[in-house]
Amino acid sequence: MNLDGKIVVISGAAGALGVVICDRLAALGAKVVALDIETADAAEARFADCTSKPAYYTCDVSNEAETADALARLAKEVGMPDVVCCHAGVVHVEKVQDYSLEQFDALMNVNVRGSFVLAKAATNLWLAAGYTGAQLIFTSSWVHDVPWPEITPYTASKAAMNALTRGFARELAANGIRANAIAPGIVGAGMALKTWNENADYRSRAEKAIPLGFLQPPESVADAIAFLCSDMSSYMTGSVLVVDGGCSLYPNI
Ligand SMILES: NC(=O)c1ccc[n+]([C@@H]2O[C@H](COP(=O)([O-])OP(=O)(O)OC[C@H]3O[C@@H](n4cnc5c(N)ncnc54)[C@H](O)[C@@H]3O)[C@@H](O)[C@H]2O)c1
Repeated sequence: MNLDGKIVVISGAAGALGVVICDRLAALGAKVVALDIETADAAEARFADCTSKPAYYTCDVSNEAETADALARLAKEVGMPDVVCCHAGVVHVEKVQDYSLEQFDALMNVNVRGSFVLAKAATNLWLAAGYTGAQLIFTSSWVHDVPWPEITPYTASKAAMNALTRGFARELAANGIRANAIAPGIVGAGMALKTWNENADYRSRAEKAIPLGFLQPPESVADAIAFLCSDMSSYMTGSVLVVDGGCSLYPNI
């Protein structure tokens, strides 16, 4: 696989999965541009172990003006993006009966609104430049259609992101802009690893829920995103690529 010359922008890039994805895409030849709410100094520390450091822009993707400004600046300073990954996401674990509306709104604000804001800003950038052949990639999750206890608003946000994927794909196909999503499983990094380590009940349920029998390596998520970024996926649009070790095959919990 070869991503030579491709410019890939990714939000939530300073997170546990993001740094692995940035490093993998860069190793395959992409010029990677990282977006995150973290300060540049904090982000630099997160990318410390990366072989190749991405260009970095602090950006809250739920803020429309800030996101449009970051995209305009990076297009000027790095180049027109070929791929924009709406990857930033948050999770909050709580029973539905105890889930506050503040927590609900905060989650939707990043996962759904933030994905829409970034995808819309990228779309406007491409349309204004008459740029064709570009692609949006949304990071969904295997729980997009499998209920999982205590993260119901998160599962709803990922179902909404799948709908965004298909909607952007349908509306923009005629403009030469594609949109696809990746649905990872239970990854041994970030939010899932933290919950796996701290919540015994979650861990026993999760162990039963992974047919392949082990936590998903973050590199497998990076590889699937690399495939979508590559020319090998050029006839795909509106697809949700499930890469979850079989988690979504059956509700075995
Ligand atoms: N870890 C898993 O098991 C798993 C499984 C399936 C899907 N995912 C998805 O993968 C993505 C990354 O997950 P992770 O495990 O690396 O989480 P993480 O918490 O390590 O990283 C998320 C990153 O998003 C950033 N962020 C939060 N709000 C933001 C905003 N408004 N604007 C820009 N950046 C913002 C955070 O600063 C953080 O760096 C999420 O969309 C998540 O839902 C994760």
